[in-house]
Amino acid sequence: MGRSSLYVCQTCGAQTRQFFGRCAACGSWNSLVEQVVTASDTRRRRPVASAGAAAGAAGGALGATDLLQRPRRSESIHTVGERPLQRLGSGYGELDRVLGGGLVPGSLVLVGGDPGIGKSTLLLQSAEAMAARHLVLYVSAEESAQQVKLRWRRLGGAGSQLQLLAETDLELVLQELESLRPAVAIIDSIQALHDGELASAPGSVAQVRECAAALARIAKRQDTALLLVGHVTKEGTLAGPKVLEHLVDAVLTFEGDRFASHRLLRAVKNRFGATHELGVFEMRDRGLVEVTNPSELFLGSDEPSAGTATIVACEGTRALVVELQALVSTTSYASPRRTATGIGTNRLHQILAVLEKHLGLPLSRFDCYLAVAGGLEVEEPAADLGVATAVVASYRDLTLAPGTVLVGELGLGGQLRPVGQLELRLQEAARLGFRRAVVPKGSGLGPMAAGIDLQLLEAGTVAEALVLALGVNPADDRA
Ligand code: TYD
Ligand code: MG
Repeated sequence: MGRSSLYVCQTCGAQTRQFFGRCAACGSWNSLVEQVVTASDTRRRRPVASAGAAAGAAGGALGATDLLQRPRRSESIHTVGERPLQRLGSGYGELDRVLGGGLVPGSLVLVGGDPGIGKSTLLLQSAEAMAARHLVLYVSAEESAQQVKLRWRRLGGAGSQLQLLAETDLELVLQELESLRPAVAIIDSIQALHDGELASAPGSVAQVRECAAALARIAKRQDTALLLVGHVTKEGTLAGPKVLEHLVDAVLTFEGDRFASHRLLRAVKNRFGATHELGVFEMRDRGLVEVTNPSELFLGSDEPSAGTATIVACEGTRALVVELQALVSTTSYASPRRTATGIGTNRLHQILAVLEKHLGLPLSRFDCYLAVAGGLEVEEPAADLGVATAVVASYRDLTLAPGTVLVGELGLGGQLRPVGQLELRLQEAARLGFRRAVVPKGSGLGPMAAGIDLQLLEAGTVAEALVLALGVNPADDRA
């Protein structure tokens, strides 16, 4: 039996025959781990082509299996048959939304997130909901069957068809999948599974890759939708991300502040739907509850106060009304402090520089703190005007007229730039009772805007926008 060594980078999955202190592919140090390859690794595990073809042909609707079935001969794209994509409801509208409308049979979905964020809770609740209509297998590789059962009880579980397997050995999990042929299987987690035929430790790139690939082959063959739980490493990436991301059909990340109760689910990759869709949940004592009206979560108190401004952010096809708070105070440091939570610090620096230059505000002599309510991360430039307004309002100790939202990107020359999906944003603001919106000039609203009950105030520059928003010219009486 042949025996050779292979060194696998634990960060990017690159392989070399020789050991290096630094991975040549991704540049990370001390990440190469030896993996002993035995001849059996290459020979094992039978691909059964005929079974897959049969499963694909039998169903009336299209599963992921069909998509992977390559035609033997090419044909014109016009003659390729079209069938509607079949989807299983996950039991949660928010999860379905992120998946693009539900789970596709035979597809592989990786759900990543920090430990303790609620991945097991989400998937167990969803498994329970799906088990009411389908055969569902929950494989727990991290917790004992008793622990899962306790949690299931706490979550109010009562479903009939939920099957549970507490196992870490890949071979046994594969056997169970083959004999049970469930519609949906959940593997919690992929890093805890172990393939006894590989010499490397559980959780290593080689193990994760081999386990996921073996599971994927069976899932595609028998049209089982697979949900894999993956942990995020210290660096904030999914362990073995490169090796798994190309293998799976969708990558969802579950995130949130451990100290706040809400959790955000996003698709970073999705072969069967749009990415950047956002699902919002709240962790309660009896599990995760969907938040169908998330704007309420990100809006602060009703009392307007100095230094707050309200923006409308967009996440996928969803608009969120979000409150920003700024605190500007005289600095006692040689270089002033700038801290931003929920918005990139570089973005804040840039906005402060624009305000200093074009409005003549001496902000470099002031500390500036900025926070997004509810712990949301807002990456969009559309938040710029809101940030600028909150900063100036705090600096001048001004309060915005209630019921005002601000939308606009700030150019370096102080001009306001139009933003995408403005109508969607305005609709959401109007729905929540906002009455005025300061928007960039020439936004070119379509016919949809006609029905939006909101007073639109258009501004060409940040100075004009601030006059409209605050009612006074902040550049007057320069300090
Ligand atoms: P869990 O799903 O175990 O996280 P993960 O699988 O991502 O590691 O969730 C763990 C946290 O959720 C734990 O700290 C307790 C909390 N929790 C609740 O607040 N309510 C509940 O009903 C459950 C089941 C968990
Ligand atoms: Mg868990």
